[in-house]
Amino acid sequence: MNITFAAPAAVAAGSWVIGAVEGGALLPAAVSADKASGGALTRALKFARFKGQPGQMVEVLAPAGISASRLLLVGLGKPEALDEKALETIGAQVAARLLTAGESRGTFEVDAPKGCKVKKGEIAAHLAFGAKLRTYAFNRYRTKNLDDYAQKLAAITLLTPDPAAAKKAYAGLAAVADGIFLARDLVNEPPNILYPEEFARRAKAKLAKLGVKVEVLGEAEMKKQGFGALLGVGQGSARDSQLVVMQWNGGKAKGKPVAFVGKGVCFDSGGLSIKPGGSMMGMKGDMGGAAAVTGLMLALATRKAKVNAVGVIGLVENMPGPDALRPDDVLTSLSGQTIEVLNTDAEGRLVLADALTYTQRRFAPKFVIDLATLTGAIVATLGFEHAGVFSNDDDLTGRLLSAGRHTGERVWQLPLDPFYDKMIKSKIADMKNIGGANSGAITAAQFLKRFIDKDQAWAHLDIAGVAWQDGEQKPMIPSWGTGWGVRLLNRLIIEHYE
Ligand code: BES
Ligand code: MN
Ligand code: ZN
Repeated sequence: MNITFAAPAAVAAGSWVIGAVEGGALLPAAVSADKASGGALTRALKFARFKGQPGQMVEVLAPAGISASRLLLVGLGKPEALDEKALETIGAQVAARLLTAGESRGTFEVDAPKGCKVKKGEIAAHLAFGAKLRTYAFNRYRTKNLDDYAQKLAAITLLTPDPAAAKKAYAGLAAVADGIFLARDLVNEPPNILYPEEFARRAKAKLAKLGVKVEVLGEAEMKKQGFGALLGVGQGSARDSQLVVMQWNGGKAKGKPVAFVGKGVCFDSGGLSIKPGGSMMGMKGDMGGAAAVTGLMLALATRKAKVNAVGVIGLVENMPGPDALRPDDVLTSLSGQTIEVLNTDAEGRLVLADALTYTQRRFAPKFVIDLATLTGAIVATLGFEHAGVFSNDDDLTGRLLSAGRHTGERVWQLPLDPFYDKMIKSKIADMKNIGGANSGAITAAQFLKRFIDKDQAWAHLDIAGVAWQDGEQKPMIPSWGTGWGVRLLNRLIIEHYE
């Protein structure tokens, strides 16, 4: 879908999208549309339950007197509450309506209501961003009824008094949308297609041409270096494990980088501690952390962010088999610490342990943030609206909380504490890889903390509840993979590290 910004002009074809605030008062463009159509909108409003609440719509098809195919009046809610996030949601809701209708063109003429804090040009940019996110589709494996899935919406134009500002603001957002779409694609791909080596190939193919330095470590190299924990997880699989290191150097030469580490379990069967069928379904998405890190690197490079950033992803497949890791095995991690594996389904922390050690040793980053679909316990705790954040650094936590409120990718802090640390004591090794029956998301985080160097700022995001979604509950996310994390971390970088 093509997106353009232009100064207000007559709408010659397609849908004309106009706005009203809470209470139903039409904004100036809506008043003009009403006049041009001989009062079609005010007549329609008499028969509609429309209060101007966010996302409410009234549609007039083929209005007489104008050449637009339809008038689409959308509620913007209270102007004070109309922030970037709200605008994006409204943009997505309108796009959804136009897609369903089979419309081919849409022109948004949404005026800035008095009291709205977003700048005029940026209003258009955020509406466009929301609309763009809603057009994501993953139809690669369909062979039938393709016409039913084909999108007819070829172009949207956003009319704004400040097209130059809108274009500029949108350029950065479009880069983020590209990163989100890449992350969604990676999560949606089936695991027979997207195994570790294929993931690594795709990361390289997408990122190298944008100026990201991409290195791939295979099993032989990792064995030499001592990645005992990560390799342990992958040893039951016929597929080779990989570590992908991505570097974007858009900041000052020699400036310390910020670092992101992703869990990339391309399929999590549970290993010998095998999952029951119902819980195994969807475990192609257990690389959602790695997908978000890869998508973030794409966004940063595309918008030429003035930051030095590294992304490190540990890619493995967790499978049972004659060579598989056994419950009771002891692994020696890259850090030298030993881990008694008592449940092979608690594999993500093993992968992250080595990836975290590697990242800190090689890059001495300003901070390291890991993203992982780590525990079912976080889903039980926070559901689908927040990711869990665990951190040893209050500033970093505060920045993540704020970036989350801003973007809608919200996080909620949970504790780290020596008490929980006792729960991972092993009878024969430095630690065991499971806690107990309770507080599973916390003991997992506490495990990761053992691999964080003293004085290293670190945050762990448990994204098991937000990396994918079953239904279609969220307007900006039409697909299964959400691409969660790209927007949040991009925002964190813009606010504090560029
Ligand atoms: N990948 C899963 C966590 C998960 C569960 C993600 C549900 C998304 C939805 C992780 O590897 C896992 O299996 N965790 C276990 C840990 C347990 C064995 C200590 C869990 O949460 O049950
Ligand atoms: Mn598991
Ligand atoms: Zn897993």
